Amino acid sequence: MKLIKVSGEEELSRMAAEYVFSKIKNADRVVLGLATGRTPLGMYRHLSKYSKEYKLSLSHVHTVNLDEYVGSKAYHAYMHQNVFDPIGIPNHQTHIPDGYAVDLEKECMRYEAVIQQLGGIDLQVLGIGENGHIGFNEPGTDFSSRTHVVELTESTLSANAKYFTREKQPRKAITMGIGTILESKEILLLAAGLKKAHAVRELFKGSLNENIPATVLNHHPNVTVIADRGARSLLEEES
Ligand code: GLP
Repeated sequence: MKLIKVSGEEELSRMAAEYVFSKIKNADRVVLGLATGRTPLGMYRHLSKYSKEYKLSLSHVHTVNLDEYVGSKAYHAYMHQNVFDPIGIPNHQTHIPDGYAVDLEKECMRYEAVIQQLGGIDLQVLGIGENGHIGFNEPGTDFSSRTHVVELTESTLSANAKYFTREKQPRKAITMGIGTILESKEILLLAAGLKKAHAVRELFKGSLNENIPATVLNHHPNVTVIADRGARSLLEEES
């Protein structure tokens, strides 16, 4: 696992955007796995700036998101507002689980099929939960899991409560499974702030721990982590 050390969120956003942008620029066709949350927002802002500066057509970019709440379009709204519209990715090339699907099990299968039909994910961008979750794969999730419906933990609900001022916060979500995420050819994980320090320290211990889902990335051959000073604080205390 490669670690890129940055000082703060601004540098993290710039480095992450440069990383993703070089993938986009140098490929004839690219499938990006995308994450929501606060951490990648700055990266999306920079990407939008770069795509305008370089006048790059994004007709070769396909996206699949990690997750969506059940009974909500919160992450659809986030992606349109912060990514698809400003960056200019054609709508029909973007994919997000449908949290309003009548048959959620069927929706999970459909989503797996979408990823297969796209030929898999070239680069998956991940954030990390305070409890070490990736996507919405909470502690204890089977490392071979596919796209599935999850009951969110109290820790995740309280960390994300701030985003639900206008609608009731859903307690369930659809998430790509850990097995699905691991099949991505390359992974870029972004970690910012003191609240992520515990999860980041566990991640770099190098061993697998089902209670910290992100540790599964130690099993993947091509992972880069960009972490700011806060997120690295416990890791560096020990070395
Ligand atoms: C949510 C998302 C994750 C994200 C995590 C951390 O739980 N489902 O994909 O990584 O939040 O978010 P933040 O970047 O806001 O700390």
